[in-house]
Amino acid sequence: MTAFPADLEACFAARDAQFLDDLFAFLRIPSVSARSEHNVDTQRAAAWLHERLARIGFAVETIPTAGHPVVLAEWRKAPAGAPTIVVYGHYDVQPPEPLDLWTSPAFEPTIRDGKLFARGSVDDKGQLFAHVAALETLLEVRGALPVNVIVLAEGEEEIGSEHLAPFIEAHKARLACDGVVISDSSMFAPGIPSILSSLRGLAYFEINVRGPASDLHSGSYGGAVVNPAMALARILATMHDADGHVVIPGFYDAVRAFPPNVIAGMRKLPFDEEHFRQEVGATALGGEPQFTVLEKLWTRPTCEVNGMLSGYTGEGAKTVLPGVSMAKVSCRLVPDQDPAEIERLMKAHVASVAPKGVTVTVTHLHGGKPWRADLEGPLFEAAKVALESAFGRAPEVTGEGGSIPVVGDFERILGVPVLLMGFGLPGENAHAPDEWISVDNFRRGMRAIAALFEQLGAAK
Ligand code: BES
Ligand code: ZN
Repeated sequence: MTAFPADLEACFAARDAQFLDDLFAFLRIPSVSARSEHNVDTQRAAAWLHERLARIGFAVETIPTAGHPVVLAEWRKAPAGAPTIVVYGHYDVQPPEPLDLWTSPAFEPTIRDGKLFARGSVDDKGQLFAHVAALETLLEVRGALPVNVIVLAEGEEEIGSEHLAPFIEAHKARLACDGVVISDSSMFAPGIPSILSSLRGLAYFEINVRGPASDLHSGSYGGAVVNPAMALARILATMHDADGHVVIPGFYDAVRAFPPNVIAGMRKLPFDEEHFRQEVGATALGGEPQFTVLEKLWTRPTCEVNGMLSGYTGEGAKTVLPGVSMAKVSCRLVPDQDPAEIERLMKAHVASVAPKGVTVTVTHLHGGKPWRADLEGPLFEAAKVALESAFGRAPEVTGEGGSIPVVGDFERILGVPVLLMGFGLPGENAHAPDEWISVDNFRRGMRAIAALFEQLGAAK
């Protein structure tokens, strides 16, 4: 095992409190990209990052898009022949609601039991800042970086990265590089660093059902008028069979099986399904019975209801036949399913099962392609050594059920490999109340990133 360099370790140790303080400041900015009332805060988070990267010697530009800006920071003074690495992350966060379920306020970072609680702590400000801190440490200790680095931070990841692929296309020459590094994911388990080999894609829909011209008295009209809430329930119920298999015609047509060696690797990972059940707090697990939990999460597509709205939901009973109903439905996709094709299939299916007497519309809100890669080449070799030197253990190769749509875009537009090396943990409550990052992982993450750049510089 390559030992972690003592001089870097001394600097990380000396700056530990400062780095945590700085991360706290970044986390206090409520950069909720989905909410226009937070646009000023989202701008402030971009400005904070801009200033921070400029201070350590990067040439920084905050570039407007039709949505939230991109912070693009470059350091290009590495020795001739050194590789160029793009670091991607996002400075926007999910809305913090429901606020009353947070133990401490979402935008007042707090450490309890080795966990740093705050919205964005793990997704993704904490992980993005770990890169900034690693770069800062390398610059301080070595006086230079071993590789050329371009930091690209966006403010729209949590709302679908709509403007990012066009941005990468438009700045393709400037972003020319040898690889992209992203820390916006989780490790397989505490103490087990991980490199991702796949992500699921996404196709997200809103289904609206419109019935009578307005809400009606459920006694005077119920039974003779089609009920939009029931119509929606019937539509949603046609999407799966009793085993959780999606029965939207054509849904699985493009699914390409994962290679047997990848499945075999998944089955070797130390994963206890009963422990997983207890952790999520369900009385039993569901889904297609022929697959393990990890296979269901990493290799199988889904169709899920994210939210539903209709009729009276207040205290007590109100007799009403609602005029409308709505559901948010998302499909997680696996290679080679395509969000545009899934949109076509979903719309055709809903149209074919919609009951008479209501008008049903399906709107595609956003989507992203799934991703899968063979992890070969110097980027991955360097990551293995770096993760081992920081965590004292070789990384596992894992999959992921979540989505980072831009990963496929980087690969396609820039023609380079993407390394997904994240420092979250299962149970970290991303997108939920009490989001946290392990302080130990934040510390080791910064070190692993610094070691990665050193390895990449040495391997040239
Ligand atoms: N950091 C996540 C992606 C992720 C989720 C990685 C879970 C590892 C585990 C990212 O910020 C995210 O939440 N992505 C969205 C996709 C987007 C299109 C809204 C997701 O997966 O829902
Ligand atoms: Zn997220």
